[in-house]
Amino acid sequence: MDATAPLLFFDSGVGGLSVLGEVRKLLPQAPVIYAADNGGLPYGPKSEAEVAARVCGLLGRMSERFRPRLICIACNTASTIALGMVRDVLNVPIVGTVPAIKPAAEITRSGVIGLLGTAATIRQAYVDRLEAEFASSKRLLRFAAGELVGAAEAKLRGESVDPAIYARAAAGLRDQPGGDAIDTVVLACTHFPLLLAELQTVFGPGVQFVDGAAGIARRIAQLTQGQPFARSEPDLALLTRQDDSLQGLLPTFAHYGLERIEVLQ
Ligand code: DGL
Repeated sequence: MDATAPLLFFDSGVGGLSVLGEVRKLLPQAPVIYAADNGGLPYGPKSEAEVAARVCGLLGRMSERFRPRLICIACNTASTIALGMVRDVLNVPIVGTVPAIKPAAEITRSGVIGLLGTAATIRQAYVDRLEAEFASSKRLLRFAAGELVGAAEAKLRGESVDPAIYARAAAGLRDQPGGDAIDTVVLACTHFPLLLAELQTVFGPGVQFVDGAAGIARRIAQLTQGQPFARSEPDLALLTRQDDSLQGLLPTFAHYGLERIEVLQ
Protein backbone atom coordinates (compact mmCIF):
# COMPACT_ATOMS: atom_id res chain seq x y z
CA MET A 1 0.00 0.00 0.00
CA ASP A 2 1.39 3.40 -1.08
CA ALA A 3 1.35 5.50 2.12
CA THR A 4 0.49 8.63 0.12
CA ALA A 5 -2.60 7.07 -1.56
CA PRO A 6 -5.54 9.28 -0.52
CA LEU A 7 -8.99 8.61 0.82
CA LEU A 8 -11.33 10.13 -1.76
CA PHE A 9 -14.60 11.66 -0.55
CA PHE A 10 -17.26 12.44 -3.14
CA ASP A 11 -20.40 14.58 -2.94
CA SER A 12 -22.28 16.98 -5.18
CA GLY A 13 -21.16 19.89 -2.99
CA VAL A 14 -20.10 20.65 0.57
CA GLY A 15 -22.34 18.03 2.21
CA GLY A 16 -19.66 15.37 2.37
CA LEU A 17 -17.65 17.64 4.66
CA SER A 18 -19.96 16.45 7.45
CA VAL A 19 -18.57 12.96 6.82
CA LEU A 20 -14.98 14.12 6.35
CA GLY A 21 -15.18 15.91 9.73
CA GLU A 22 -15.90 12.61 11.49
CA VAL A 23 -13.21 10.74 9.55
CA ARG A 24 -10.61 13.38 10.48
CA LYS A 25 -11.27 12.63 14.17
CA LEU A 26 -10.27 8.97 13.71
CA LEU A 27 -7.68 9.27 10.93
CA PRO A 28 -6.07 12.72 11.16
CA GLN A 29 -2.98 11.48 9.36
CA ALA A 30 -4.82 10.21 6.26
CA PRO A 31 -4.17 12.08 2.98
CA VAL A 32 -7.53 13.27 1.64
CA ILE A 33 -9.07 14.38 -1.63
CA TYR A 34 -12.50 15.95 -1.18
CA ALA A 35 -14.33 15.94 -4.52
CA ALA A 36 -17.40 18.11 -5.00
CA ASP A 37 -19.34 17.82 -8.25
CA ASN A 38 -20.35 21.46 -8.12
CA GLY A 39 -20.94 21.29 -11.87
CA GLY A 40 -23.77 18.80 -11.20
CA LEU A 41 -25.13 20.24 -7.95
CA PRO A 42 -27.88 19.67 -6.89
CA TYR A 43 -28.39 15.94 -7.43
CA GLY A 44 -31.73 15.80 -5.61
CA PRO A 45 -33.94 16.96 -8.53
CA LYS A 46 -32.11 14.81 -11.10
CA SER A 47 -33.24 11.48 -12.52
CA GLU A 48 -31.70 8.19 -11.40
CA ALA A 49 -30.05 7.77 -14.81
CA GLU A 50 -28.47 11.21 -14.69
CA VAL A 51 -27.08 10.77 -11.16
CA ALA A 52 -25.78 7.28 -11.91
CA ALA A 53 -24.05 8.39 -15.11
CA ARG A 54 -22.38 11.39 -13.44
CA VAL A 55 -21.25 9.49 -10.37
CA CYS A 56 -19.90 6.47 -12.24
CA GLY A 57 -18.20 8.64 -14.88
CA LEU A 58 -16.60 11.07 -12.43
CA LEU A 59 -15.45 8.43 -9.96
CA GLY A 60 -13.95 6.43 -12.82
CA ARG A 61 -11.93 9.45 -13.99
CA MET A 62 -10.94 10.45 -10.47
CA SER A 63 -9.80 7.02 -9.44
CA GLU A 64 -7.72 6.62 -12.58
CA ARG A 65 -6.07 9.97 -12.01
CA PHE A 66 -5.60 9.96 -8.21
CA ARG A 67 -5.42 6.23 -7.35
CA PRO A 68 -7.30 6.49 -4.04
CA ARG A 69 -6.97 3.63 -1.55
CA LEU A 70 -10.69 3.95 -0.76
CA ILE A 71 -13.63 5.98 -2.04
CA CYS A 72 -16.36 7.27 0.24
CA ILE A 73 -19.51 8.33 -1.59
CA ALA A 74 -20.40 10.96 1.00
CA CYS A 75 -23.80 11.62 -0.53
CA ASN A 76 -27.04 9.77 0.21
CA THR A 77 -28.52 10.56 -3.21
CA ALA A 78 -25.53 9.16 -5.09
CA SER A 79 -25.19 6.18 -2.74
CA THR A 80 -28.81 5.08 -2.74
CA ILE A 81 -28.87 5.26 -6.55
CA ALA A 82 -25.40 4.22 -7.67
CA LEU A 83 -23.47 2.44 -4.91
CA GLY A 84 -23.91 -0.99 -6.48
CA MET A 85 -22.96 0.24 -9.96
CA VAL A 86 -19.83 2.00 -8.73
CA ARG A 87 -18.76 -1.12 -6.84
CA ASP A 88 -19.28 -3.16 -10.01
CA VAL A 89 -17.02 -0.98 -12.14
CA LEU A 90 -14.25 0.18 -9.78
CA ASN A 91 -11.68 -2.06 -8.22
CA VAL A 92 -11.27 -0.04 -5.02
CA PRO A 93 -13.12 -0.31 -1.69
CA ILE A 94 -16.23 1.89 -1.78
CA VAL A 95 -18.01 3.06 1.35
CA GLY A 96 -21.46 4.52 0.81
CA THR A 97 -23.68 6.81 2.85
CA VAL A 98 -27.19 5.52 3.38
CA PRO A 99 -29.99 6.87 5.55
CA ALA A 100 -29.47 6.04 9.25
CA ILE A 101 -32.87 4.35 9.63
CA LYS A 102 -31.49 1.48 11.70
CA PRO A 103 -30.05 3.62 14.53
CA ALA A 104 -33.13 5.84 14.43
CA ALA A 105 -35.40 2.80 14.89
CA GLU A 106 -33.28 1.75 17.86
CA ILE A 107 -33.60 5.04 19.73
CA THR A 108 -37.12 6.29 18.94
CA ARG A 109 -39.43 6.12 21.95
CA SER A 110 -42.59 7.31 20.23
CA GLY A 111 -42.09 4.92 17.30
CA VAL A 112 -42.50 7.76 14.80
CA ILE A 113 -39.39 8.68 12.81
CA GLY A 114 -39.02 11.55 10.37
CA LEU A 115 -36.66 11.34 7.41
CA LEU A 116 -35.34 14.39 5.59
CA GLY A 117 -33.58 13.73 2.30
CA THR A 118 -33.49 14.92 -1.27
CA ALA A 119 -36.38 14.21 -3.64
CA ALA A 120 -34.30 11.53 -5.35
CA THR A 121 -33.25 9.84 -2.11
CA ILE A 122 -36.65 9.55 -0.49
CA ARG A 123 -38.13 7.67 -3.46
CA GLN A 124 -35.36 5.06 -3.68
CA ALA A 125 -36.10 1.36 -3.27
CA TYR A 126 -32.94 1.30 -1.14
CA VAL A 127 -34.78 3.40 1.45
CA ASP A 128 -37.85 1.13 1.22
CA ARG A 129 -35.59 -1.84 1.94
CA LEU A 130 -33.98 -0.14 4.97
CA GLU A 131 -37.45 0.72 6.26
CA ALA A 132 -38.71 -2.86 5.79
CA GLU A 133 -35.62 -4.35 7.40
CA PHE A 134 -35.14 -2.06 10.38
CA ALA A 135 -38.27 0.00 10.96
CA SER A 136 -41.21 -2.22 10.00
CA SER A 137 -42.65 -1.88 13.51
CA LYS A 138 -42.24 1.93 13.41
CA ARG A 139 -43.79 4.68 11.39
CA LEU A 140 -41.39 6.39 8.98
CA LEU A 141 -42.48 9.74 7.52
CA ARG A 142 -40.40 11.06 4.62
CA PHE A 143 -40.03 14.60 3.33
CA ALA A 144 -38.02 15.93 0.40
CA ALA A 145 -36.18 18.94 1.79
CA GLY A 146 -34.06 19.85 -1.22
CA GLU A 147 -34.13 23.50 -0.21
CA LEU A 148 -31.83 22.65 2.69
CA VAL A 149 -29.07 21.72 0.24
CA GLY A 150 -28.85 25.28 -1.05
CA ALA A 151 -29.12 26.56 2.51
CA ALA A 152 -26.10 24.49 3.62
CA GLU A 153 -24.10 25.62 0.59
CA ALA A 154 -24.94 29.27 1.36
CA LYS A 155 -24.18 28.91 5.07
CA LEU A 156 -20.75 27.45 4.36
CA ARG A 157 -20.03 30.32 1.97
CA GLY A 158 -20.76 32.65 4.87
CA GLU A 159 -24.03 33.92 3.38
CA SER A 160 -27.23 34.47 5.32
CA VAL A 161 -30.10 32.00 4.88
CA ASP A 162 -33.83 32.70 5.12
CA PRO A 163 -34.96 30.90 8.33
CA ALA A 164 -38.30 30.09 6.64
CA ILE A 165 -36.40 27.34 4.78
CA TYR A 166 -35.78 25.47 8.06
CA ALA A 167 -39.36 25.99 9.20
CA ARG A 168 -40.66 24.52 5.91
CA ALA A 169 -38.52 21.40 6.40
CA ALA A 170 -39.92 20.86 9.90
CA ALA A 171 -43.50 21.53 8.76
CA GLY A 172 -43.06 19.07 5.89
CA LEU A 173 -42.74 16.30 8.46
CA ARG A 174 -44.86 17.67 11.28
CA ASP A 175 -47.88 18.33 9.05
CA GLN A 176 -48.13 14.71 7.89
CA PRO A 177 -50.58 12.43 9.71
CA GLY A 178 -48.78 11.28 12.87
CA GLY A 179 -46.09 13.92 12.44
CA ASP A 180 -46.74 15.43 15.87
CA ALA A 181 -45.29 12.31 17.49
CA ILE A 182 -41.93 12.43 15.68
CA ASP A 183 -39.15 12.23 18.26
CA THR A 184 -36.29 11.20 15.95
CA VAL A 185 -35.27 12.68 12.61
CA VAL A 186 -32.91 10.96 10.18
CA LEU A 187 -30.74 13.47 8.34
CA ALA A 188 -30.59 11.49 5.10
CA CYS A 189 -28.55 13.98 3.13
CA THR A 190 -24.97 14.78 4.06
CA HIS A 191 -25.66 18.50 3.71
CA PHE A 192 -28.15 18.45 6.58
CA PRO A 193 -25.86 17.78 9.59
CA LEU A 194 -24.18 21.05 8.60
CA LEU A 195 -27.49 22.70 9.61
CA LEU A 196 -27.98 20.80 12.85
CA ALA A 197 -28.30 23.85 15.10
CA GLU A 198 -30.87 25.47 12.80
CA LEU A 199 -32.89 22.24 12.56
CA GLN A 200 -32.79 21.71 16.33
CA THR A 201 -34.28 25.16 16.73
CA VAL A 202 -37.23 24.55 14.42
CA PHE A 203 -38.00 21.01 15.62
CA GLY A 204 -37.69 21.90 19.31
CA PRO A 205 -36.05 20.16 22.26
CA GLY A 206 -37.98 16.86 22.14
CA VAL A 207 -36.44 15.72 18.86
CA GLN A 208 -33.14 13.90 18.38
CA PHE A 209 -31.26 13.77 15.08
CA VAL A 210 -29.28 10.91 13.60
CA ASP A 211 -26.98 10.69 10.61
CA GLY A 212 -24.50 8.14 9.36
CA ALA A 213 -21.24 10.10 9.55
CA ALA A 214 -19.74 8.61 12.73
CA GLY A 215 -20.57 5.06 11.58
CA ILE A 216 -18.98 5.71 8.19
CA ALA A 217 -15.85 7.02 9.88
CA ARG A 218 -15.61 3.84 11.97
CA ARG A 219 -16.05 1.72 8.85
CA ILE A 220 -13.30 3.59 6.99
CA ALA A 221 -10.95 3.27 9.98
CA GLN A 222 -11.67 -0.46 10.08
CA LEU A 223 -11.08 -0.94 6.34
CA THR A 224 -7.77 0.91 6.46
CA GLN A 225 -6.55 -0.56 9.74
CA GLY A 226 -2.82 -1.26 9.70
CA GLN A 227 -2.23 0.75 6.49
CA PRO A 228 0.56 3.35 6.44
CA PHE A 229 -0.46 7.00 5.92
CA ALA A 230 1.85 9.81 4.81
CA ARG A 231 1.01 13.14 3.19
CA SER A 232 3.22 14.17 0.29
CA GLU A 233 1.30 17.42 -0.27
CA PRO A 234 -1.55 19.34 1.37
CA ASP A 235 -5.02 17.81 1.10
CA LEU A 236 -7.03 18.72 -1.98
CA ALA A 237 -10.51 20.06 -2.70
CA LEU A 238 -11.34 18.88 -6.22
CA LEU A 239 -14.19 20.62 -8.07
CA THR A 240 -15.81 19.82 -11.40
CA ARG A 241 -16.46 23.41 -12.45
CA GLN A 242 -14.67 26.69 -11.96
CA ASP A 243 -17.16 29.24 -10.71
CA ASP A 244 -17.23 32.48 -8.76
CA SER A 245 -18.88 31.07 -5.66
CA LEU A 246 -15.78 28.94 -4.97
CA GLN A 247 -13.99 31.94 -3.48
CA GLY A 248 -16.55 32.05 -0.66
CA LEU A 249 -15.87 28.41 0.19
CA LEU A 250 -12.12 28.75 0.69
CA PRO A 251 -12.33 29.39 4.48
CA THR A 252 -14.61 26.35 4.86
CA PHE A 253 -12.27 24.13 2.87
CA ALA A 254 -9.33 25.37 4.97
CA HIS A 255 -11.32 24.65 8.15
CA TYR A 256 -11.61 21.02 6.99
CA GLY A 257 -7.88 20.88 6.23
CA LEU A 258 -8.24 21.23 2.44
CA GLU A 259 -5.48 23.67 1.57
CA ARG A 260 -5.32 23.11 -2.20
CA ILE A 261 -8.08 23.59 -4.76
CA GLU A 262 -8.14 22.11 -8.25
CA VAL A 263 -10.72 21.83 -10.99
CA LEU A 264 -10.92 18.37 -12.59
CA GLN A 265 -9.57 18.52 -16.14
N1 DGL B 1 -25.40 15.77 -0.21
C1 DGL B 1 -26.25 15.02 -1.06
C2 DGL B 1 -26.93 13.90 -0.30
O1 DGL B 1 -26.41 13.42 0.69
C3 DGL B 1 -27.24 15.66 -1.99
C4 DGL B 1 -27.30 17.09 -2.26
C5 DGL B 1 -27.80 17.37 -3.67
O2 DGL B 1 -29.03 17.44 -3.89
O3 DGL B 1 -26.95 17.50 -4.53
O4 DGL B 1 -27.98 13.44 -0.68
